[in-house]
Amino acid sequence: MASYEIVPVEMIASILKYSEKRTEVELRRLKRLKLIFIVQRHYLGVALTFMGYDALGSKALVEKGIIDQVGPEIGAGKESNIHLAINNEGMQFLIKIHRLGKLDFRATRKARSFIAEKRHLSPLYESRLSAQREYEALTNLYNAGISVPKPIAQNRHIVAMEIIIGTDLYRVKKNEYESQEQILNLFENILQEIRKATATGFIHGDLSEYNIRLDEKDYPVLFDWPQYIETSATHAKEALMRDIGNILKFFFRKFNLAYKIEVMDIVNELLNAPIEN
Ligand SMILES: Nc1ncnc2c1ncn2[C@@H]1O[C@H](COP(=O)(O)OP(=O)(O)O)[C@@H](O)[C@H]1O
Ligand SMILES: [Mg+2]
Repeated sequence: MASYEIVPVEMIASILKYSEKRTEVELRRLKRLKLIFIVQRHYLGVALTFMGYDALGSKALVEKGIIDQVGPEIGAGKESNIHLAINNEGMQFLIKIHRLGKLDFRATRKARSFIAEKRHLSPLYESRLSAQREYEALTNLYNAGISVPKPIAQNRHIVAMEIIIGTDLYRVKKNEYESQEQILNLFENILQEIRKATATGFIHGDLSEYNIRLDEKDYPVLFDWPQYIETSATHAKEALMRDIGNILKFFFRKFNLAYKIEVMDIVNELLNAPIEN
């Protein structure tokens, strides 16, 4: 699938050195298991479904000794499914299965190669890139001491990471906080993690109350990093302003925290860039 959106059945048979008949039997079995699509174009071809890709990714993680069992779905974001998992020592963690785009081979749209047209990556490929980027960001940030879930492993579109026991920031109730000082302290802790991430070269790019969790000690953990932006990118400043702005807005809306800060000053200080109008 690196070079074909739809892989010719003939090619599969020749690589496996299977007879036409045997290839057909095996492919029908995979189709019944919903692991592949069988598609008739100007040739008979096959493509992986997301479930097929899930099977390959989880098999690789099982073989590497990362996953022993997968449990129920514990959270679904816009672009992922999140499941509990355990390793063979009984340690719990979670796997985030990235799902970007939808696979649809029923439509009679024109056959085209996703890979040849670089702008149109296949959903499976895009999902893998997204997982790779997330794992890369988590690894760098975690090693630099920023408060993010500890990454464990990645294969294809699946990232294994530490579970943060706690509460998503958007679900926190105002009355859980006794004083404005506590709220201000929480805000400053978030800002501090943003500063540290920026110093490491990473801007989240989609930061909000939906991508921050408070751990058992009420300390913020920043997650969901695939869209991160490098501090050297041309749009770094806008992204960082948006991230900080989102957090400020949330604290204002939820806690009436009217915190006087010049977002622009912080951004300029962090990115070491001159002020622009
Ligand atoms: N490391 C984690 N520990 C605990 N819960 C998590 C963790 N990562 C994600 N979640 C839960 O799963 C949800 C979706 O995760 P997220 O990474 O934001 O996916 P998406 O990219 O689909 O938005 C989060 O809102 C959160 O509740
Ligand atoms: Mg999210």
